[in-house]
Amino acid sequence: MPKPNDHVFIVGGTSGLGLAVAEAAHALGCKVTIAGRGADRATEAARRIGPDLRGVHLDLEDSASIEAALSGEDPIDHLVLTPIHPDNQTIRTFDAEVAIRAVRIKIVGYLEAVHHALPRLQPASTVTLFGGLAKANPYPGSTLVSTLNGAITGMTATLAVELAPIRVNGISPCLVEDSPRWQKRIADGAGQAVDLFRAHSPAKRLATVEDIVSGVFFRKREAAAVQLL
Ligand SMILES: NC(=O)c1ccc[n+]([C@@H]2O[C@H](COP(=O)([O-])OP(=O)(O)OC[C@H]3O[C@@H](n4cnc5c(N)ncnc54)[C@H](OP(=O)(O)O)[C@@H]3O)[C@@H](O)[C@H]2O)c1
Repeated sequence: MPKPNDHVFIVGGTSGLGLAVAEAAHALGCKVTIAGRGADRATEAARRIGPDLRGVHLDLEDSASIEAALSGEDPIDHLVLTPIHPDNQTIRTFDAEVAIRAVRIKIVGYLEAVHHALPRLQPASTVTLFGGLAKANPYPGSTLVSTLNGAITGMTATLAVELAPIRVNGISPCLVEDSPRWQKRIADGAGQAVDLFRAHSPAKRLATVEDIVSGVFFRKREAAAVQLL
């Protein structure tokens, strides 16, 4: 659980679950850096939360921007990585160019970001990597995302061993109904799919954004459809 004045650095903090983590960390009195594509967009997202948050440009497809954004000496107490390439594909419509960009972001980019953050991480720091439950519960059309989310399981395990005592966690949400991503999909007609997921979840309820933030913060909360690795 972050303490006041801890520095929380969120890659992918300009929207969605990363933005919710940024807001919650700020509410706890943490120093927050939001990193995402476009300095203006990142700064704007930071300013909307509060005047003392920082926004920096970081594109996980661009090594130079990863290194630049993570250079510095100010310790990072909690590093959170959320991005994913937005396009999903079935194996029948497989497009190697899209897959290479997705791997660049989720696998190479995540590892590169942790690598460049290392000099700023402390023994008590934490790293949280976002995957998703599609790794274990695939659905037609999830081939690319299931593969990438599976890789996050391996990445979490190996980094936990290599970086100990730094705590490394992977978080694998099922669909988060109140996230902007699913609110948009529901508005576009995905309500039935959401009902199906809820009916098949053991708790008969889906995770909320607040559940996910609690998972990132390792904060005690009734668990539902959130798998911590
Ligand atoms: N929401 C859910 O229901 C759900 C369910 C299962 C798993 N997950 C996982 O949880 C994570 C977060 O999901 P979300 O719903 O919050 O997604 P989101 O709303 O799409 O947010 C993703 C964030 O990543 C940033 N981003 C994308 N490409 C980037 C790049 N190349 N470099 C740096 N930043 C980049 C985006 O900002 P810009 O596009 O502005 O750069 C955005 O801030 C994802 O890994 C997703 O697979 C989410």
